[in-house]
Amino acid sequence: MSTRGKDISTPSTEPLNTIGEVWNDFSQNTGFHGVNKLSGITSRHKIRLLLWTCFILSCGIYLIVTVVEEINNYYRYPTTMTQYTKPENEIEFPSVTVCNLNSLNKSAIKNDSRIDNYYFNISPFRGLANITTNWSDPIYEQEGFYLNRTLEDVMTDEKNIIDPGGFLVYATFHLSYLDVRKYFKVKLNNNGPCLTSNPDMKIKTNHVGSVFHLTLMLDLDSANNYYGSSYGEGLQFLVHDSKEDPIFEGNSGFYIEPGKEVFASVHKTRFEYLPSPYEAMGNEYCRDHMNDDGSQYYRSSCYKDCASTFFLDRCNCLPYTHNSTYYCSKFQVANCILKAIGDYYNQTKVDDKCDCPLPCSSTHYDVSLTSSLFPSDFYSKKIFDLNRDKHLDYYR
Ligand SMILES: *[C@@H]1O[C@H](CO)[C@@H](O)[C@H](O)[C@H]1NC(C)=O
Ligand SMILES: *[C@@H]1O[C@H](CO)[C@@H](O)[C@H](O)[C@H]1NC(C)=O
Ligand SMILES: *[C@@H]1O[C@H](CO)[C@@H](O)[C@H](O)[C@H]1NC(C)=O
Ligand SMILES: *[C@@H]1O[C@H](CO)[C@@H](O)[C@H](O)[C@H]1NC(C)=O
Ligand SMILES: *[C@@H]1O[C@H](CO)[C@@H](O)[C@H](O)[C@H]1NC(C)=O
Ligand SMILES: *[C@@H]1O[C@H](CO)[C@@H](O)[C@H](O)[C@H]1NC(C)=O
Ligand SMILES: *[C@@H]1O[C@H](CO)[C@@H](O)[C@H](O)[C@H]1NC(C)=O
Repeated sequence: MSTRGKDISTPSTEPLNTIGEVWNDFSQNTGFHGVNKLSGITSRHKIRLLLWTCFILSCGIYLIVTVVEEINNYYRYPTTMTQYTKPENEIEFPSVTVCNLNSLNKSAIKNDSRIDNYYFNISPFRGLANITTNWSDPIYEQEGFYLNRTLEDVMTDEKNIIDPGGFLVYATFHLSYLDVRKYFKVKLNNNGPCLTSNPDMKIKTNHVGSVFHLTLMLDLDSANNYYGSSYGEGLQFLVHDSKEDPIFEGNSGFYIEPGKEVFASVHKTRFEYLPSPYEAMGNEYCRDHMNDDGSQYYRSSCYKDCASTFFLDRCNCLPYTHNSTYYCSKFQVANCILKAIGDYYNQTKVDDKCDCPLPCSSTHYDVSLTSSLFPSDFYSKKIFDLNRDKHLDYYR
């Protein structure tokens, strides 16, 4: 009776002085921690005391080891990878960018050896012969080689893309003809003007099979080929996110030779990584999907920005579409841009110079291609019979 009364009154009278008492009270009057087993013991309980000490010490050590291990583990930010396949009934159709490897239109370019020299000197062949462009010749001034250009100016030398008679003959989707002016956009890329489908619009599709999806009929107009961006002939294409800037570098992109009917099947893979402090890949951290200004972050756009800044610095103009800058004059292309491109890729550490980490989420489209001869001999003859104006080989 008296003990209880004391217990209750002690904390209320001297609350600050009682840490020792609280500990005493806690250790002696509660039992789950076992400390009370170590004190108030007479000599006949020595073995019990020893056993309890060992027991409490080993429990304490085990506790400390486990906590240290868990803390270490936490600061290592371990990640797990989950991979799963999710069948979707409806997906957004990706963008397709197609470029003609021989985009210059020979008939649109003046037939003059001095102008031919110029195009030779910006072609991949330029190292193979000692041909110089004599810039003091007045023809270059007359032909506007020193003027800044707009996209229309650039396109006067190139084959038409979406105008009738140009590169894109027709396009269908879900078996109906598309309004090419609404559905496609022409943009100048590193290797010439290219066609990009679906730039702003979101087309959803819920069918499988090739006939029902995007079908393009393209006319390379090989008869008008001039110095091309590569030695080959044919076209290059890339399947990508509609907001992403297509860049054709390394293995991103496919080449198709002329005279083929090609089927492409697309496999979409979506990657998502945890943001910093978790490591995304190796010891790289990923960047969140939003830029500071709220636009989406894409690695390809970041690299393009980086290259553009470099070229603007060097030459004060760009040879391809980016932001709303004007295009380099032909003189600038030959005398500044070509060298700047070489220097840019010859930098030992492009990756260090451009701060373009992996985005925390990205979409990759794997494309597999199969092809057949186009058109078949039968169709070739049939078309030839129908309109006899072109040579038989024209349709290949
Ligand atoms: C270009 O000009 C040369 C002579 O200057 C001529 O022999 C050649 O046929 C011309 N080519 C075309 C395609 O007009
Ligand atoms: C190229 O030709 C010019 C004269 O036409 C000559 O001065 C120059 O040394 C030649 N360059 C090479 C690499 O042969
Ligand atoms: C370059 O053109 C100018 C003007 O036509 C001419 O006087 C000069 O001889 C040419 N130089 C060469 C190396 O052909
Ligand atoms: C091209 O544009 C740049 C930048 O505005 C300007 O400095 C340059 O004088 C222009 N060149 C011509 C030929 O108009
Ligand atoms: C090439 O240029 C010629 C002459 O300007 C034009 O008639 C023809 O349509 C052009 N070809 C293409 C594919 O744009
Ligand atoms: C292009 O525009 C983006 C955003 O509007 C800007 O961050 C970037 O610096 C610009 N790039 C160049 C080369 O002007
Ligand atoms: C690339 O850079 C190295 C050293 O910086 C230089 O020796 C080499 O000539 C450069 N190559 C080209 C193609 O500019």
